Amino acid sequence: MCGITGYIGHKDAAPILLKSLKRMEYRGYDSAGISTIHKDKIIIKKDIGRIDSINEKIQLGEAEGKIGVAHTRWATHGGVTKENAHPHLSCNKEVILVHNGIIENYRKLLKGLSNNHNFQSQTDSEVISHLIEEEYNKLKDPIKTLQNISKKLNGSFALIVIFSDRANEIYGVRKYAPLIVGIGENENFISSDIVSFIDYTDNVIFLEDKEIVKVTQNSIEILNFDGDKITRDKTHVAWEAADISKEEFSHHTIKEIHEQSSTVKTALNQDKEEFEKFVNELLSGKNIFITGSGSSFHIALIFKKMLTKFVKSQVQAFLSSESEEYRELMDENSILIPISQSGETADLHEVIRNLKDKGVTILSIYNTIGSSLSRVSDISLNLNCGPEIGVAATKSFTSQLAIVYKIIFELGKVKDGNEKIEELSEQIKEIISNEKSLHEIIELLNESNDVYFLGRSIHHPIALEGALKLKELAYIHAEGMAAGEIKHGTLALVEEGTPAIIINPKDESYEDTMNNAIEMKARGAKIIGISVEDNEAYDYWIKIPKVDNILYPLIELIPLQLLAYYTAIRRKNNPDYPRNLAKSVTVK
Ligand code: F6R
Repeated sequence: MCGITGYIGHKDAAPILLKSLKRMEYRGYDSAGISTIHKDKIIIKKDIGRIDSINEKIQLGEAEGKIGVAHTRWATHGGVTKENAHPHLSCNKEVILVHNGIIENYRKLLKGLSNNHNFQSQTDSEVISHLIEEEYNKLKDPIKTLQNISKKLNGSFALIVIFSDRANEIYGVRKYAPLIVGIGENENFISSDIVSFIDYTDNVIFLEDKEIVKVTQNSIEILNFDGDKITRDKTHVAWEAADISKEEFSHHTIKEIHEQSSTVKTALNQDKEEFEKFVNELLSGKNIFITGSGSSFHIALIFKKMLTKFVKSQVQAFLSSESEEYRELMDENSILIPISQSGETADLHEVIRNLKDKGVTILSIYNTIGSSLSRVSDISLNLNCGPEIGVAATKSFTSQLAIVYKIIFELGKVKDGNEKIEELSEQIKEIISNEKSLHEIIELLNESNDVYFLGRSIHHPIALEGALKLKELAYIHAEGMAAGEIKHGTLALVEEGTPAIIINPKDESYEDTMNNAIEMKARGAKIIGISVEDNEAYDYWIKIPKVDNILYPLIELIPLQLLAYYTAIRRKNNPDYPRNLAKSVTVK
């Protein structure tokens, strides 16, 4: 949830760290801070608010020094205050620390510390800096100190630590939260995310769980928690820095919505062998479990509905945060398909942990290159949609869906499957080019407190996704539901003018869904129909082009994304950084 980063090299660290923070702001944006060391002096600048406003106030980028760490926060333990913002210093200022994750046993650890510590914050993270200080004072050995302390911490964490008496070294520690080293020339980087240093280098080393790294200006040394030296090759990542700019768009979110006309095509570029292995595994007769969180869970639901028709084995889809009974069921005859944009979602990794020991085959679908998910999978398919910066999933969702289509077409032996998916590109453009026609509906949504999204069969997950987008971006209460379920509660909530968005392209669920729309209308709802043809039940009609039935979910989602984005703009919300949310949910 938080983003952490560190720099050591021949340049001033603070402007680089500031840029890194801006790049990682999607990970958390309630407070931020930078700490550098210059001529033995520790400089710390931190405050609450968005990075730009903090920088205007206290010039984060002007701290001197060629070594430093930085943090952008999404509060978990301790409220949003300047004191709780990172970096955290130990009492005698020997340890400077930034942390991403949650230390579950921090209260217990706190009790084990001597009474001499002076705490400045209410965070679990500050406890780590004091623990490290106590241990370091005994051992005077940074690596041994970090090994011992890391073994005591329960939970997920990535740490970047500077010992102020060793201002030529930065240390990183990883357990269940991402940490990546960027290898520069005469400079090195360490960060939660490649995007934070991609302007400077695209050569990286991915740390694994339970590893510690010592980084100097010209060296990188990795050890595991037991002190064994690890040799790891560097990886060259192909993402261009340009991918991260907003270009001519006012927000990343709308840029990413537009990008979908090309990303549905790039999703099809899969390594032939890996793709075939993936599909063959699905046909192997093993039981199939699909999981994800948020939008990725909605893809899991669609995937399950489609896959069930093509494989003989049982297919189940479940929320990663509700995995207990499914984990029990999985064994060596099971396949788990985790779906994730970031590849770092904590609940998802909680599902996967230890399953490999049980012999479960992991076939993943992910976006972030080098993410933890890609590295624990037996076979993985990458979305190839480039970095998604807007907090709400948009292009990653449709890329996931494009991959699901590719798999289903392969299983169904549809010869021109790829062409069919590629054709969606033009249809996406067509829908976006009509965005002005959404104006009146946006006004209606803007004035509403509750909005219902209805869909049946493969349109039900899209109803869930449409509602999620509206909640996230416009801050309007929205419920996505199976259209047939309105009689079981929802009709009691419908008032004169309540908007009901009916996802109803012309397929076998059309008549039943239309009846549900009419039932809503009879109770006063304003009906917004998303369909290939108009109907007298609709107060507003959003036209979508005619496509093969299976492809409608991708097409019908685009206007829902646009509605959420423009309603957010109408309400003066920042759609890239919705309040209280973070993109990469690395805590349970
Ligand atoms: C919704 C959204 C989140 C993510 C969820 C899973 O717009 O962005 O709900 O879908 O946090 O994230 P990943 O796919 O990275 O595992």
